[in-house]
Amino acid sequence: MRTDRTFTMLKPDSVEKGNVGPILEKITSAGFRIAAMKLTQMTVADAQAFYAIHKERPFFGELVQYMTRGPIVAAILEKENAVEDFRTLIGATNPEEAAEGTIRKLYAASIGENAVHGSDSDENAEIESQFHFAGREIF
Ligand code: RTP
Ligand code: MG
Repeated sequence: MRTDRTFTMLKPDSVEKGNVGPILEKITSAGFRIAAMKLTQMTVADAQAFYAIHKERPFFGELVQYMTRGPIVAAILEKENAVEDFRTLIGATNPEEAAEGTIRKLYAASIGENAVHGSDSDENAEIESQFHFAGREIF
């Protein structure tokens, strides 16, 4: 299993607020290389499948509605120790608990609308990358 790739989504609130440029700048300044990237919109079925692990949680309906309400930017990022370093860069799920300077501290509105996704394991990084980029060339 490779350890130098992670997967991210800049969520609909980031696109709506015009924060894609500043967030990508934070990501590349932190040493991540963009190996694949696209603007896309998830269907309800896509979001339900992507976040299936949370399907019993009380916020699942809100999460699916949020993630499908507009376009997202999906990307595969490369860096040594990518998964852990990216989770550090984005900060805690709840922006009120996120460290100063993290992407969620800077750009997230709330625990529900928290600007970015980051894979939580090397295995999930691979699964999530395949979900969005299966059959595409990865540079
Ligand atoms: P993500 O998967 O999006 O990178 O976020 P995460 O690992 O930090 O957090 P996770 O527990 O996987 O939750 C997935 C997403 O569900 C929404 N959420 N809402 N209202 C709530 O209490 C709540 N809790 C989680 C967030 O959009 C979170 O990123
Ligand atoms: Mg998660």
